[in-house]
Amino acid sequence: MFPLALLPLALALSATARAANATYEYIVVGSGPGGGPLAAKLARAGHSVLLLEAGDDQGDNPNITQILNFNKAGNDPKTRWDFFVKHSDDLERERKFEHYVWRQPDGSFYVGRSPPSNATELGIYYPRAGTLGGCAMHNAGVSANPPDADWDHIAEITGDDSWRAEKMREHLVSLENAAYAPNDTTHGHSGYLTLTQAKVNMGNGSDGGTMVQVMADAMGLGGVSPQQLVTRDMNAKDPNRDMKTGIFGQLRHADAQGRRVGTNTYIRATLQDPAQYPLTVSLNSLVTKVLFSNSTTGPTAVGVEYLEGASLYSADPRFAKNATRQVKQVTASREIIIAGGVFNSPQILKLSGIGPAEELKKFDIPVVVDSPGVGARMADNYETSIIGLASRDLNNVGGTYAVMLKSTTATTTNSTRDLYLFCGAFSFEGYWPGFPTEYGKSEYECAVVHMGPHSQAGTVTLRSSDPRDMPEINFRFYNQTEEADLTAILDGIKHARSAFATAPDGIAPFKELHPCKSPKTNCTEAEQKEWIKLNTYSHHATSSCQIGGDADKMAVLDSKFRVRGVKNLRVVDASAFPRVPGAFPVLPTFMLSEKAFRDILADL
Ligand SMILES: Cc1cc2nc3c(=O)[nH]c(=O)nc-3n(C[C@H](O)[C@H](O)[C@H](O)COP(=O)(O)OP(=O)(O)OC[C@H]3O[C@@H](n4cnc5c(N)ncnc54)[C@H](O)[C@@H]3O)c2cc1C
Ligand SMILES: *[C@@H]1O[C@H](CO)[C@@H](O)[C@H](O)[C@H]1NC(C)=O
Ligand SMILES: *[C@@H]1O[C@H](CO)[C@@H](O)[C@H](O)[C@H]1NC(C)=O
Ligand SMILES: *[C@@H]1O[C@H](CO)[C@@H](O)[C@H](O)[C@H]1NC(C)=O
Ligand SMILES: *[C@@H]1O[C@H](CO)[C@@H](O)[C@H](O)[C@H]1NC(C)=O
Ligand SMILES: *[C@@H]1O[C@H](CO)[C@@H](O)[C@H](O)[C@H]1NC(C)=O
Ligand SMILES: *[C@@H]1O[C@H](CO)[C@@H](O)[C@H](O)[C@H]1NC(C)=O
Ligand SMILES: *[C@@H]1O[C@H](CO)[C@@H](O)[C@H](O)[C@H]1NC(C)=O
Ligand SMILES: *[C@@H]1O[C@H](CO)[C@@H](O)[C@H](O)[C@H]1NC(C)=O
Ligand SMILES: *[C@@H]1O[C@H](CO)[C@@H](O)[C@H](O)[C@H]1NC(C)=O
Ligand SMILES: *[C@@H]1O[C@H](CO)[C@@H](O)[C@H](O)[C@H]1NC(C)=O
Repeated sequence: MFPLALLPLALALSATARAANATYEYIVVGSGPGGGPLAAKLARAGHSVLLLEAGDDQGDNPNITQILNFNKAGNDPKTRWDFFVKHSDDLERERKFEHYVWRQPDGSFYVGRSPPSNATELGIYYPRAGTLGGCAMHNAGVSANPPDADWDHIAEITGDDSWRAEKMREHLVSLENAAYAPNDTTHGHSGYLTLTQAKVNMGNGSDGGTMVQVMADAMGLGGVSPQQLVTRDMNAKDPNRDMKTGIFGQLRHADAQGRRVGTNTYIRATLQDPAQYPLTVSLNSLVTKVLFSNSTTGPTAVGVEYLEGASLYSADPRFAKNATRQVKQVTASREIIIAGGVFNSPQILKLSGIGPAEELKKFDIPVVVDSPGVGARMADNYETSIIGLASRDLNNVGGTYAVMLKSTTATTTNSTRDLYLFCGAFSFEGYWPGFPTEYGKSEYECAVVHMGPHSQAGTVTLRSSDPRDMPEINFRFYNQTEEADLTAILDGIKHARSAFATAPDGIAPFKELHPCKSPKTNCTEAEQKEWIKLNTYSHHATSSCQIGGDADKMAVLDSKFRVRGVKNLRVVDASAFPRVPGAFPVLPTFMLSEKAFRDILADL
């Protein structure tokens, strides 16, 4: 156990810390799964913390409070940050993406491949949330502990064994409240992150139960009841967990009433606690750069500059270039922690003079550290889906469940599972303004997430030195090992398709919408791979400010999240991962945040 669990909570210094523009011990920039819990925990440990968040607080908005409203939340202009990205350098191919986005003269979006000639090209939509709680406020909340190999990899490249998977599991236990497994002592039950399992209807004659049975039969899981399968714990403490395929319950960060739990709830609970923890939250505060002092030992982060005002970032649909704003500065006595997320953390570092020198010079930004890895080597899980319309409406299907598979090209250590499918009566075909397309009561889908993408050629580069501008984002998907990755993804599709085909008459046959569009039933592998490659979508980006070893010139951070080349500055969010963790990044980011909290205290 952690000795730090016994921290003296009574150290609260609330009165002084709440004064305007006080000097705080810590300033945390961004309140997502990286920054939010870290700010709360530092305050609960008695340290004065200022949490600066560009968005406002929508914690009472019903789109957000009920996790099953996530599609509405994702479209809500009060939380949305609309990014437009590229998947490659080949613009001709980019424009073949089925949900390519253009701006029409009246300001509305055009989505598709035949835009009016007067529309302006935007690119491929990439959702983010600019609000108190970050993307954990409109995500689907799927919470999966990544394969041990992902954590062990960080230990291996840095030589820091505190990243070993068994150590990281202690952080999971410390932060979770595994409400789905109340009597399982290998899980935590007193953390801030309540985890529950999505419910799949299994009742007599329910199509939900029938479809799970069909999936189970396709995997030879006949001996286990569907009910047992959809409640299996995918985060179980089990040395062979990463090798196990089959059906599992889909965990999410929500309570038993379906209320979204995590960042916003924990920040609010910390602010409202009678102990008066010294946490100050400043909303509508867009951080523009880190301020440094020059000590004899090199640049030291002492504060940040920020713009105060609503909707000041141009990804915000309410953004107005002329909106009133105030420039402010605030200082911290100990550290500045950047947690703006995978696109914004590298942007903030670059605006602060930490990044590739050539790029910074182009925008007249004085170079503090020539750090070529800032905004480089970004990666994302590849996602696609097979969706079909059953022969009749489906009844009593309930929620989603996970299907874990090993593709024929799984190459990770000892062939760990590399495909995470989630299946149910829903339509998820990626993101665009106004997503998703609903196909009615007969729709049934398996979404395919390919873990461990080989390519890490994504970049986040500045478009200008204006901190309100969005950076240029290019994922360069399939830049390496394209064939193996596409084969793996197609394996997942084929698996689901063959299961769908064995559903009882009446449900089957399914009319497939993609990747092999009905009435066609004989698409070649090459055709399907081409469709998948063109239409791969994603929303799990990480690794744009990576942790890495001392000899790695591209490593932006050391193993304790410290920005190399300066003092008193860390990055604690999904951009720190050296590669995309597992199938879903949010739980790994919560775990990473918990680790950073311990690492920061250990430095005192
Ligand atoms: C629609 C959607 C669905 C998703 N579904 C899942 C899922 O089911 N499971 C899963 O594991 N993951 C999911 N994800 C991904 C997951 O939510 C993110 O990986 C995770 O939230 C990343 O956390 P973060 O702390 O790195 O950054 P973020 O959550 O992006 O938080 C960054 C915060 O910083 C703020 N900020 C940025 N720049 C500044 C600035 N300059 N000044 C002040 N504040 C700033 C932003 O407003 C934001 O609040 C989903 C994401 C989206 C968008
Ligand atoms: C919920 O989001 C939708 C967009 O998806 C928006 O139109 C609606 O106003 C939001 N509801 C609330 C209460 O803000
Ligand atoms: C843009 O083009 C569309 C379709 O051709 C047309 O309906 C619309 O009037 C045009 N808008 C402007 C402002 O020219
Ligand atoms: C947990 O244990 C309690 C007390 O022994 C028991 O009542 C309850 O049914 C158990 N819950 C589960 C989900 O097994
Ligand atoms: C299942 O449902 C059918 C029809 O809806 C009913 O006749 C049957 O009794 C039910 N069986 C059980 C075990 O509930
Ligand atoms: C620190 O030193 C650099 C280089 O000498 C200089 O450009 C910068 O303005 C100095 N910063 C401060 C805060 O004094
Ligand atoms: C900004 O410009 C818009 C239109 O150009 C105008 O309607 C609005 O009043 C302006 N707002 C401010 C704060 O100046
Ligand atoms: C806050 O304090 C710093 C010095 O600590 C000062 O430079 C800055 O101007 C102050 N900001 C405001 C908005 O008062
Ligand atoms: C892979 O599995 C084999 C046999 O179970 C074992 O001996 C070996 O150590 C494993 N390799 C790694 C890297 O875990
Ligand atoms: C990979 O990306 C680089 C740019 O970083 C580009 O030059 C190259 O053509 C890409 N290769 C493939 C196969 O996409
Ligand atoms: C698929 O079937 C259609 C119609 O039966 C046929 O014309 C086509 O050649 C077939 N394609 C392949 C790749 O087998």
